[in-house]
Amino acid sequence: MQLKPEEWQALRALEKCTLGKATTSAESIAKVSGQPMDRVNFGLNELNKRKLIGSGRTYEIYVPAVDLLALKFYADKDFAHALGKLIAKGKESDVYEVLSGKGDLYALKLFRLGRTSFRDVTRKRHASSKQLNTWLDINYEAAHREFHALARLAEVTKNVPVAVATNRHTVLLKELPGVRLTNRPELVDARKVLRDIMDTVRDAYTKAGMINGDLSEYNILTDGATVWLIDWPQWVGADHPNAKELMRRDVGAVSKFFERSYGLSADIDALVGYVTGSGRFPAVRRV
Ligand SMILES: Nc1ncnc2c1ncn2[C@@H]1O[C@H](COP(=O)(O)OP(=O)(O)OP(=O)(O)O)[C@@H](O)[C@H]1O
Ligand SMILES: [Mg+2]
Repeated sequence: MQLKPEEWQALRALEKCTLGKATTSAESIAKVSGQPMDRVNFGLNELNKRKLIGSGRTYEIYVPAVDLLALKFYADKDFAHALGKLIAKGKESDVYEVLSGKGDLYALKLFRLGRTSFRDVTRKRHASSKQLNTWLDINYEAAHREFHALARLAEVTKNVPVAVATNRHTVLLKELPGVRLTNRPELVDARKVLRDIMDTVRDAYTKAGMINGDLSEYNILTDGATVWLIDWPQWVGADHPNAKELMRRDVGAVSKFFERSYGLSADIDALVGYVTGSGRFPAVRRV
């Protein structure tokens, strides 16, 4: 989609005015953009015709418009030369394959918190003292949190996605090979995969003070030999009041899945002890 310069200007100003509240007036947009009223009105009208914004007495920005702003950011930086297939459409994000100008393949995660229910939004918006109210604020914050979580994790483990950039409600990740563990792929060595997952949870906790908080077979990718723990916007610190329960739930979910799907069983308390750095890796029995 080719937007005119007036449209980009109006859109960027509308975005700025919208952060922190849901709608805004043409006067505020003109003030922020530093453009004359007639130019702003022209831009807003065009954007409205394309259904990128809503207008009435006040103006609101729609999700495709925010997608467009983020895509332009990546295109201008040569991170995105072409948009590829939709890799996954989840409750909380859409993930698209992106080809860079240099021929690298990325996975672009566009946050969609609040698409299904407001509960999802509140679940991923903790740990911020700021009052977050609008769709924009909540999704920008989630992307920001995930990017910084992955940057921090990159220092302690190789088994998480590499985050290349972030913009607005998106994070750009290096594309990983493989499938989710939910597909129950054939594993070269299931015991080793279980151990590698626990070692990653342990490194995140003991070296970076981080707990995923939403770990399960849905958030683990594998090519059969290597695993990657994905999806970190809801992470909590080791000092979080619910840290213990969240860690137990993360470890329990993985452990139960391995028992169900690969016939491998280990004591959950002992696994929790291991990942928190206070015990040895427990015996894994075939069941
Ligand atoms: N770096 C990546 N490389 C390849 N595929 C990826 C990558 N990151 C995410 N995906 C794909 O996108 C899906 C959703 O990613 P993620 O779990 O981070 O988002 P989500 O919003 O929690 O989605 P869901 O609601 O489905 O769990 C993953 O299950 C995986 O299939
Ligand atoms: Mg997920």
